[in-house]
Amino acid sequence: MPRQFFVGGNWKMNGDKASIDGIVNFLNAGAPYKDVEVVVSPPSPYLAYAKDKLKPDVLVAAQNCYKVRTERGEVGEYSLCVEVSKGAFTGEQSPAMLKDLGLKWVIIGHSERRHVFGESDELTADKTLHAIQEGLGVIFCIGEKLEEREAGKTKEVNFRQLAALVAKNPDWSKIVVAYEPVWAIGTGKTASPEQAQEVHEWVREFLNEKVSKEVGGATRIIYGGSVTPDNCVELGKKGDIDGFLVGGASLKPDFVKIINARN
Ligand code: G3H
Repeated sequence: MPRQFFVGGNWKMNGDKASIDGIVNFLNAGAPYKDVEVVVSPPSPYLAYAKDKLKPDVLVAAQNCYKVRTERGEVGEYSLCVEVSKGAFTGEQSPAMLKDLGLKWVIIGHSERRHVFGESDELTADKTLHAIQEGLGVIFCIGEKLEEREAGKTKEVNFRQLAALVAKNPDWSKIVVAYEPVWAIGTGKTASPEQAQEVHEWVREFLNEKVSKEVGGATRIIYGGSVTPDNCVELGKKGDIDGFLVGGASLKPDFVKIINARN
């Protein structure tokens, strides 16, 4: 079965009601989006505001959520996972809350969470598992830093980040993998279509081998890192690039061109 193209807009910590009204206007004015799943991710305080205004074919994702708590050794030698849907976790939001808002998606493991806020592979995998158990879809981000690429560690880093999730045995039908090389994020230095395709192919092979051929074949692997209306068509032609996660360019009207990159 062909993989449906997926385009996400990650607004990061940008926007206010007035600018969100502008984004909503250009997204709602676009013709019905065909053969592409469109998901935008406003900052938490604006999730409900944006969702209420967007047309139904534009879904909304949160940029983060809380994890399952794993208590080792509570049941014999096995770990006991305790889902945390509410409680004393100041500043956090649970997947249950996101579902209550009617959201379908959450972004987890973005490089800014990993590298600015120090979130580990393990925490990222725990968050993903919890979100899926609550019924959310997860845009699971991976990607190497420039020094890691230059040291020849691109494959190793991306596989390590994925392996932490594979170990949790999640429902892969709820996951979109976003390959976002850190050196390409917000820098204007896009990975070439060949560079991106190479890593996407490795990721798919990894899923084939470590999970199953069905999962490898069905999982959408999207690219993020300085995607623009000018480079999206060539990137989107590559066989293992199933869409994009777009930062800066998702705040501008030309984002609609990126949504329609395959049309
Ligand atoms: O989540 C989106 C990525 O961080 C890409 O951001 O398109 O501004 O480079 P960017």
